[in-house]
Amino acid sequence: MNANDIRKKFLDFQIKHGHKIIPPAPLVLENDPTTLFTGSGMQPLLPYLLGQPHPEGTRLADSQPSMRLQDIEDVGDPRHTTVFEMLGNWSLGDYFKKEQIENFFEFLTKEVGLDPEKIYVTCFIGDEKYGIPKDTEAAEIWQEVFQKAGIEAKIVDMGSAQHGDERGIKPGERIFFYDDKENWWSRGGGIETTPLGDPCGPDSEVFYDFGEDKQDVAKFGKSHPASDGARFMEIGNQVFMQYKRNEDGTFSELENKNVDFGGGLERITAASIGSFDVFKISLMAPIIAKLEEISHKNYDNNTDEMRIIADHLRGAYLLAAQGLVPSNKAQGYALRRLVRRAVLRALDLGIGQEFLSEIIPVIETNYQDLSDDILPARNQVLDVLTVEENAFRKTLNKGVKELQKLGADQLLTGAELFKLQDTYGFPLELSVEEAYKLGLNLSKNYQEEFAAALAEQRERSKTASRGMFKGGLSDTSEQTVKYHTACHLLLAALQQIIDPSIAQKGSNLTPERLRFDFSIDHKLTPEELKQIEDQVNAWIAADLPVVYAEYDKDYAFDGLHAHGSFRDRYPDRVTVYLIGGTGVAPEERLNQSGLTDTESSDGAQTSAATQEANWVSKEICGGPHVKRTGELGHFKITKEESSSASVRRIKAILE
Ligand code: ALA
Repeated sequence: MNANDIRKKFLDFQIKHGHKIIPPAPLVLENDPTTLFTGSGMQPLLPYLLGQPHPEGTRLADSQPSMRLQDIEDVGDPRHTTVFEMLGNWSLGDYFKKEQIENFFEFLTKEVGLDPEKIYVTCFIGDEKYGIPKDTEAAEIWQEVFQKAGIEAKIVDMGSAQHGDERGIKPGERIFFYDDKENWWSRGGGIETTPLGDPCGPDSEVFYDFGEDKQDVAKFGKSHPASDGARFMEIGNQVFMQYKRNEDGTFSELENKNVDFGGGLERITAASIGSFDVFKISLMAPIIAKLEEISHKNYDNNTDEMRIIADHLRGAYLLAAQGLVPSNKAQGYALRRLVRRAVLRALDLGIGQEFLSEIIPVIETNYQDLSDDILPARNQVLDVLTVEENAFRKTLNKGVKELQKLGADQLLTGAELFKLQDTYGFPLELSVEEAYKLGLNLSKNYQEEFAAALAEQRERSKTASRGMFKGGLSDTSEQTVKYHTACHLLLAALQQIIDPSIAQKGSNLTPERLRFDFSIDHKLTPEELKQIEDQVNAWIAADLPVVYAEYDKDYAFDGLHAHGSFRDRYPDRVTVYLIGGTGVAPEERLNQSGLTDTESSDGAQTSAATQEANWVSKEICGGPHVKRTGELGHFKITKEESSSASVRRIKAILE
């Protein structure tokens, strides 16, 4: 079965079990300062996992493109990728452990056709300090599921992964209890590092057994599910999201017990073809084949390079197909980095000419099954990425020239080579190779000098990023929520004072400030800025109520005239946040002829909902927001600048 078949089977299976399929979120999430990219299916659902009702109901599913740049150094092994699709299903206070475990097992064994004998699972051993019990419930459900499939399944206390490496597993053992490093899920990892305010809980992971010969005991110890060896591969994780971490660090039960399931599409597909190497699946193998063709080298002898190139270009494709362009900042820089790393690895394979123009069409073919809603900029990818590729090749040439200059009459130091890498993206190995070729005088200690310069820079950037994410959403999430509401007021003020057609073009929130991009044809004058600031502060002083309700998308736009930048991308039911007015969200009204307000036969734009109250702001938004604007404090614009053509940027703080 190929990956497209499995994605479809999963979604159909979830529909059969009463789930609504929701559109996946973009890889670049707005309003989430905690990560650069969407890294899991649950991330866009955070408000709903914390208790806000979802417009589509209590059973949801999707296939979410996800990016985990933190795994970039692991790419090259058989299973790590920076980008992947996470098959997800959620129960928001609906079914819980039993139905989830039974259904996932059924999906794997009946729909995908995996051999149940090759499935192993793990559960959470509990944590006394925080009063979280051992998850015997999940383990016993698993035992029954296996027994029904005719498989003896002994339950074992494994504890830590290190203990597993020493102990290994014995015949008949199939269900293992591990500590919070393995079987506790939060966006921050283990129990101690669970972000304050976040939902979390024990999880139960599912592994596929590729056979004992894959283990490499000398390197990784004896085999067991949580080992780093290649025998077992995690293919899905069922989080029983039943706790919330409080602001004081303790845990309390969520009113609604949720299930957050995520399974790697690529890995499940690899298991379905019995390949422990995910680069053999349908979404990857054609890229590798093309690389073999272009380089006249084969995968078996150039495995790492080809895996890295295939992974990075697939990631670059998905980002660019969603409209991201390479730049020197944040997400744009990540895209640039993926392309550059791929180009450099291609050099290792002897590919020195433009080659993205050959690879990108192959990737595009693999993604024919993803709709244009998910990849709205797919037609631009080839242009955007080849421009980037060629610019980087020029940069590399410049780097060579610079190297020649630097080493002309004097000693070439490691610190200089570091600078070349840092400024021109000209990597150390290339510098060294070129230096030898050109007969330059390379310092004997270049490696140490390079390492020292690198360490110094790392220290600098660590300090910078600590400042940038100070606390993150984790310890001042309330502050971030305030900035989120302030963004709505800011947009409303811009529309009211400057031009009603101003639209939001992006935003970024941290606990320290907001950044808001919007379309406009001129630079705002100091007087205009002052007026906007005063208006926002007047709304804050009025302590207006903030409410929300769900509506049909068409009604939200055409009846309520709510603001939203992505009409085509929203699901059919949406949440609208309203500020001011009566403080009671209007009901969706049909007029006498059965049409919604704006469709009335006389053509008059009479909207009962908009007439009945003078709302300050109406925006389609997933929240969360403060309850009253009075919570915000004093609003102050700190900067107004250009962001890109016809887009200006405001930075502001709450004091
Ligand atoms: N959110 C869960 C994960 O990322 C499913 O593993």
